[in-house]
Amino acid sequence: MNSIHKILDTGIQKLKKGNISSSVLDAEIILSNILNIQKEDLILEKKIYVSNDEAERFYHLINRRLKKEPIAYVLNKKEFWNDNFFVNKNTLIPRPETELMVEKIINYSKDKILRILDIGTGSGCIIISLLKELKKSKGVGLDINSRALSVAKINLIKSKLSNRLRLVNRSIDDYNDTKFDIIVSNPPYIERNQIKNLMEDIKYYEPKSALDGGNDGLDVIKKVIYKSRTILKNKGLLAIEIGKGQDKKVSQILRNNKFREKFLIKDYQSNIRCILSILNF
Ligand SMILES: C[S@@+](CC[C@H](N)C(=O)[O-])C[C@H]1O[C@@H](n2cnc3c(N)ncnc32)[C@H](O)[C@@H]1O
Repeated sequence: MNSIHKILDTGIQKLKKGNISSSVLDAEIILSNILNIQKEDLILEKKIYVSNDEAERFYHLINRRLKKEPIAYVLNKKEFWNDNFFVNKNTLIPRPETELMVEKIINYSKDKILRILDIGTGSGCIIISLLKELKKSKGVGLDINSRALSVAKINLIKSKLSNRLRLVNRSIDDYNDTKFDIIVSNPPYIERNQIKNLMEDIKYYEPKSALDGGNDGLDVIKKVIYKSRTILKNKGLLAIEIGKGQDKKVSQILRNNKFREKFLIKDYQSNIRCILSILNF
């Protein structure tokens, strides 16, 4: 048996030596997850000993974090909207700016009966969060990557939405189901030659298919817009997340394809990161 404080401190020191800047927070999150208690309770916890088995698991996960593996992959979970989503290296880790897009769509859609398509669903975080709030609506989660879709399936089963959500393993190029009221997408939008400059946590661990937006970062964004023009209902809503500095180009492509801008969403650094527009033939 080991003292909780000694174990925690050893984990923190290991991460500090490995130049992990969030060493205290990460060690606390890992240990509280293993002990199945709140992080805040670590200090107050009356059970002051950790079993050898728990200590071994703790050091194993600390060693993974030392190699810069994101904490969400180490723990196989990420909080998004009101839930914890299962994640692994086959899916992007859901981001806070995507929650802003989800919030806007929910407010716009309250009480309506809608058919929603999520292009590049990954973990399924967007479509599952939307359908949990929009209880009369149905949806499709589409992804080109079958391994990402296996992750979405785990989250779908957890969410108990199988009667309202269908997952489809296909590229948006080959998808022709029509008459959606809303299409939402957080596509890959990083310029290919910029991937090498991303933080190690991202470039070595998150799937390239979730990051790589081609030479100008706009390859999949364009595919989403072109396809939405034909499969979205007239006056339907298209919500796309974009990269920093892409707003002007994407707005132009939207205008050229009969979309009228409805809302712009800025991230916490005031960059325009989501464009919501209406198809207007
Ligand atoms: C940035 S991730 C977004 C994941 C998730 N929706 C989220 O917001 O966390 C982009 C996803 O798009 C998928 N993808 C890339 N190209 C695609 C295509 N042509 N058709 C469908 N999905 C695609 C990737 O496999 C990846 O899962």
